[in-house]
Amino acid sequence: MEISELRSVYLRFFAKRGHAVIASASLIPEDDPSVLFTSAGMHPLVPYLLGQPHPEGRRLTNVQKCIRTTDIEDVGDTTHLTFFEMLGNWSLGDYWKKEAITWSYEFLTSKKWLGFNPDKLSVTVFAGDDDSPQDKEAAKVWQSVGIPKERIYFLGKEDNWWIAGNSGPCGPCTEMFIEVDEIPKCGPDCRPGCNCGHFVEVWNDVFMMYNKNEDGTYTPLKQQSIDTGMGVERTAAMLQGVPSVFDTEAFVPILDYIRNLSPKEEFTETDERLARIIADHVRSAIMIMADDRQIGPSNVEQGYIVRRLLRKSIHSADRLGIEKGFMIGITDIMIEMFKDIYKEVERNRKFVIDNLEAEEEKFRQTLSKALRRFDKILNDTGTITGQDAFLLFTSFGLPLEMTRDLAEENGIVINMKEFTKQFEEHREISRTATQGKFKGGLADHSEEITRLHTATHLLQAALRKVLGDEVTQNGSNITNDRLRFDFTFSRKLTSEEVEQVERLVNDIISKDLPVEHYFMPYDEAIGKGALAFFKENYGEEVSVYQVGSFSMELCGGPHVEHTGVLGSFKIAKQEKIGAGVMRIKAVLESAS
Ligand code: ALA
Repeated sequence: MEISELRSVYLRFFAKRGHAVIASASLIPEDDPSVLFTSAGMHPLVPYLLGQPHPEGRRLTNVQKCIRTTDIEDVGDTTHLTFFEMLGNWSLGDYWKKEAITWSYEFLTSKKWLGFNPDKLSVTVFAGDDDSPQDKEAAKVWQSVGIPKERIYFLGKEDNWWIAGNSGPCGPCTEMFIEVDEIPKCGPDCRPGCNCGHFVEVWNDVFMMYNKNEDGTYTPLKQQSIDTGMGVERTAAMLQGVPSVFDTEAFVPILDYIRNLSPKEEFTETDERLARIIADHVRSAIMIMADDRQIGPSNVEQGYIVRRLLRKSIHSADRLGIEKGFMIGITDIMIEMFKDIYKEVERNRKFVIDNLEAEEEKFRQTLSKALRRFDKILNDTGTITGQDAFLLFTSFGLPLEMTRDLAEENGIVINMKEFTKQFEEHREISRTATQGKFKGGLADHSEEITRLHTATHLLQAALRKVLGDEVTQNGSNITNDRLRFDFTFSRKLTSEEVEQVERLVNDIISKDLPVEHYFMPYDEAIGKGALAFFKENYGEEVSVYQVGSFSMELCGGPHVEHTGVLGSFKIAKQEKIGAGVMRIKAVLESAS
């Protein structure tokens, strides 16, 4: 079965069962507390899962564009992707476990629908813990439709609990796995959830029963809902009997194109993996840029991910001997592939191509110099130190993770402490220069944005101090003259609270505290209380910005060197933009 047919039979199956077919939401979420990208069909539906009535009714279904960077290190294996499509059906306080599971089973195994062999289907259900009991009900329904006990596995929260981000609607889930005969079990303990490729997860039914509060406690939801998600590409691979998602029509034309461009006669296993990484990463970057929100590569938030995806692709292409311009052909293939289903891809063609060209131009210029330098250092000294990585980063624009990849291939581990130390020393030197610039009143466009970026961190910290830790970032947008910060909170601030927040921020500004920048392991940063708007996934070291004991956030920057240059902070406007989501617009009045 082809992907286009898979999409349409799924929607038909659920439309027949009373579900309204809704459109895919944007990849860039407007109102989500914890993520940069829409990474599941339920994200845009959070307010409705929390009880707000949906205009289309209580039963919904769709195909949703998704970006997940959590699995980025696995891209290149048989199933993991950063952009993928998800089929979903929802019950908003309507049907419950019996219907959801029975329909999942029917859709997967009936010859009228996908027709998978029921003997190859295994499922997992929630094992139970202090927060929620074992899901005996789901297991019972699976047994009643014909899944024998031995193929029902009870697993913990890691595997059988769904939540988007750190708080919000959540609950136990049941996942469905197809066994792949061609890939043998990796050992006697091989079971669904094992990453060896024998069991491929195709579908997840979530039983939304709780709201997870900011303090980590769970409150039962007023209505129980169903949220399901089926991965299009991997289900298609299973249906087509091909070894990986890269062997489906979603990738074959892109990979053929990449192989043709490379002068290499034969692709080694490493080359194949590089080609898959290029195909996946360029595809994702194009889909993000082609969204109507038009996010191009940059150094902040979603744009930072686009930049990293593209730079990794350009580097990988370079290693395959592929020359400049290769991403334009991939764009053409993608537009052809998606023009009927996601019309914005064609609509935003010019924006995508202009950005791809500019980013490649910029990065290729430095890449070859950087690689030559890398080889020279390695030849001359036999290793790559933290200091070398820093030099490659500042003078040659080679992203740290690429230096680390290259070093790793040569069996070298980069000393991150050394890298960070260099980084700090460098900042000390540039600090004086920047101060001079501000004094001269030469603040240009990017400096304004940088100031507002730091002000946003201070605002978030102040809001949490005044209103409590339930405040979390929901989105942020900065233009030349104002910041916009969306956060989870249920009501407008009183005028005293507004004043308190402004006073706290202005206090920090007048203390002229340094804005410190570190690299440290993700877990350590979180352990120290750093706020993370999204989970960092490119390796374990993360970039953290800290202002005294007031604010600490994971962030790619850029930020000012010290708070004194921000000027005077003022909240210009506040509004409620959704259930439990507030928006503040704030400005910085003339820097001193
Ligand atoms: N939201 C659930 C998932 O993405 C269905 O797995």
